[in-house]
Amino acid sequence: MSIESALNENRLFPPSDAFTSKSHVPSMQAYQALCAEAEADYGGFWAKQASARIDWHTPFTQSLDESNAPFYTWFADGTLNVSYNCLDRHLATRGDKVAVIFEADGGEVTRVTYRELHARVCRFANALKAKGVQKGDRVVIYLPMSVEAIVAMQACARIGAIHSVVFGGFSSKSLNERIVDAGAVLVITSDGQFRGGKAIPLKPAVDEALAMGGTGSVKGVVVYRRTGAPTAFDASRDIWWDDFQAGQAETCPPEFVSAEHPLFILYTSGSTGKPKGVQHSSGGYLLGALASLEWVFDFKDNDVFWCTADVGWITGHSYVAYGPLAAGGTQVVFEGVPTYPDAGRFWRMIQDHKVTIFYTAPTAIRSLIKAGGDLPGKYDLSSLRLLGSVGEPINPEAWIWYYNVVGGARCPIVDTWWQTETGSHMIAPLPGAVALKPGSCTFPLPGIMAAIVDELGEDVEKGKGGFLVIKRPFPSQVRTLWNDPERFKTAYFPPELKGYYLAGDSANRDLDGYFWIMGRVDDVLNVSGHRLGTMEIESALVANPLVAEAAVVGKPHDIKGEAVVAFVVLKGDRATGDAAKTIAAQLRDWVGQQIGPIAKPDEIRFGDNLPKTRSGKIMRRLLRSLAKGEEITQDTSTLENPAILDQLKEAVK
Ligand code: WTA
Repeated sequence: MSIESALNENRLFPPSDAFTSKSHVPSMQAYQALCAEAEADYGGFWAKQASARIDWHTPFTQSLDESNAPFYTWFADGTLNVSYNCLDRHLATRGDKVAVIFEADGGEVTRVTYRELHARVCRFANALKAKGVQKGDRVVIYLPMSVEAIVAMQACARIGAIHSVVFGGFSSKSLNERIVDAGAVLVITSDGQFRGGKAIPLKPAVDEALAMGGTGSVKGVVVYRRTGAPTAFDASRDIWWDDFQAGQAETCPPEFVSAEHPLFILYTSGSTGKPKGVQHSSGGYLLGALASLEWVFDFKDNDVFWCTADVGWITGHSYVAYGPLAAGGTQVVFEGVPTYPDAGRFWRMIQDHKVTIFYTAPTAIRSLIKAGGDLPGKYDLSSLRLLGSVGEPINPEAWIWYYNVVGGARCPIVDTWWQTETGSHMIAPLPGAVALKPGSCTFPLPGIMAAIVDELGEDVEKGKGGFLVIKRPFPSQVRTLWNDPERFKTAYFPPELKGYYLAGDSANRDLDGYFWIMGRVDDVLNVSGHRLGTMEIESALVANPLVAEAAVVGKPHDIKGEAVVAFVVLKGDRATGDAAKTIAAQLRDWVGQQIGPIAKPDEIRFGDNLPKTRSGKIMRRLLRSLAKGEEITQDTSTLENPAILDQLKEAVK
C-alpha cells in the first residue's frame, strides 16, 4: 500500500541554481560522467577515489580482488590507520578547528578541537595498550552518546583493536551474547546516561551480562563516570575511565594495518537465529564514508553537520564516529532525546549551533510533526542548506513537511538507502544534480551497481518490483559475519542470484529510473528505523516459562513505521480478561529484558493455537492480515480450529 502511494507521487523538486552552483557534483551530466567512469574501469575508478581521499601509509597496488568470492578484498596490500585519517592528518591545517560540539541532555555544551580530540584518543589508546589490548583483540563498547564513545572507538582503531559497539538500549542478555560471540577482552561502559532529564543506569547491565557466563575472555571493565549515581564496583575487574588513563601520554603512534584489517564488528538482526556480527574493513569502509559525505552530503569545510543517530547503530559509526572526522568537519553530537525539554529541542539546537546539514530518521520526523508541527517556525533555521533521511522509507507527507517547514523550501532532502552491511550510502540523490521525488531514494551512487531483479537474478523492467541487489562488490561492503562465514555466504549471496549482493529489501524503479524501496522481503521488522528479527522476538517469548508458542509480525504504525504484534499460545489455558492483561504486561517486560525495550511487542494476542498449514508451517501472511485488521482472503479451510481466528483478531487492551 505504501508502494501505491509512493508511485503516485510525481512531484519533482530540482535543485536550485543557488545550491547547484556551489555543489561538488553540480549537474546530472557530472553525475553521469562519474557513473560512466566507474562502468568503464571499475577497479580503476575506485582506486582513484581511494588514492585521492585516504592518506595511505603504504600505497596499495591492488584494487578489487574477486578471486575468493564472495570474500572480496579491496586495496589489500595498502596500509593505513583510520584514526590517523580522522585526526592526525588534520592537525597541521585544522588543529584548532572544532571537531565535536557536544550538547548534553541538560543543555551544557562542550567543544572539542581536533588537537584536543587527538590528545584524548592517544591517551586512551595508550591506556588500552597498557592494559594489554592488542591489534585484532575485540573490545565491546556500551556507552551513551558522548565524546567518550567517539574517543573509545577511535582509540581502538588507533591500535588496530576491533570494536563492537552495543547500543545502550540493549538488555544485559543481548550484551552478553555479543560479548561472548566477539570474545571481547575488554568492556567499556559508563555508570549511566542522561536522557530526558533522568539518570538511567548502564553499568548494572554489564555486571549482569558478565555474570551470565561465557565471558571468560573479558579482562576488565572501564567505567566512564557520567551520572555520578552510586554504582556497584568490583575493584578486581572494574576501573574508572580517569584512573584507567591516568599518567598516559597524549601521543600514540598509530598502528598501520592492511586495508582489509577489520575496523569493527556491529551486530544486526537477520531473519533467522541470532544477530549477525557484520564485519567491516578499514580502507574500503573509510572510503565509502568519505565518498558519500562528499557526493551525498555535499560536505564542505565550513559545514556544521549533525547526524542524530546513536553510535550504537551503523549510521552513528559512519556519520558520527568516522566519516565527519575523516572529512575534517565540525559536527554536533547530542546526548539526549528530541522531545526534552520540549519537542522544539532539535530546532533550537540547529539554531544555536548554526547547523548546515541535518540528518535524521523518518520516525523522528513523524513524531515531531505530531508533537508540534509548528515548532520549527519558532526558531531561526536559516543556517540549514541540506536535509537527510535514513532508516526506512520516508512517506511523502513527512517529506513535504520536512522540506517546507524545516528546510524552508530551500534545502534538498537526501533520502539515503543503505544498511549495516553496506557501511555507507548506496542509493541516494547527489543533491546538486538530481531532481528529487518525495519518497524515492532516487539513484545509486557512482560506482554502486544497484539493480532490481527477479528470483533468477534477471533484471526486471522499469515499473516492476523485485529484489534489490548490488551486482558488483563495492569497497565499503561487509567482509564476512564474525564467526560465521557460511551464514555470510547464504544470507547475502544466494547462488540463484548470480553472485549478486542480496540486500533483503524489495524495490521498484519507476519509468524515469528512480528507485523506490518497498520494504523487507524477509522476516525482519523495521521499528522506528531499527531492524528487529521476528525470530529473535519469538525466541525471547518462547523462552518465558508461561509460553508454549509465539509468532511475531509487523503492522503499519503512524510514527514507528512498523509496530510489533505478537501472537502467543500459553502453556496453560488461553488468557482472557484481567489475567490476559497481567500476562501481556509480563511478557512485554520479559522481551524488554531479553532483547531491549525497542523490541517490546506493541500488541499481544492470545490464542488456543496458531494458524498453521497442513505441513505445520505458521501462516504468517494470515497473521499479518489479522494484525492489520484486514478482511481474511487466504484459504483457511485447512485450519483445525477456525475459532482461533476470532481469538487472534483482538489485541489485549
Ligand atoms: C531500511 C540503516 C527505505 C531498509 C542505515 C534496509 C531504508 C534497512 C532506508 C537497513 C531508506 C534504510 N529508505 N528503507 N532511505 N534506509 N532502510 O542495517 O529496509 O539498520 O535494508 O541500516 O533499513 O537497516 P540498518
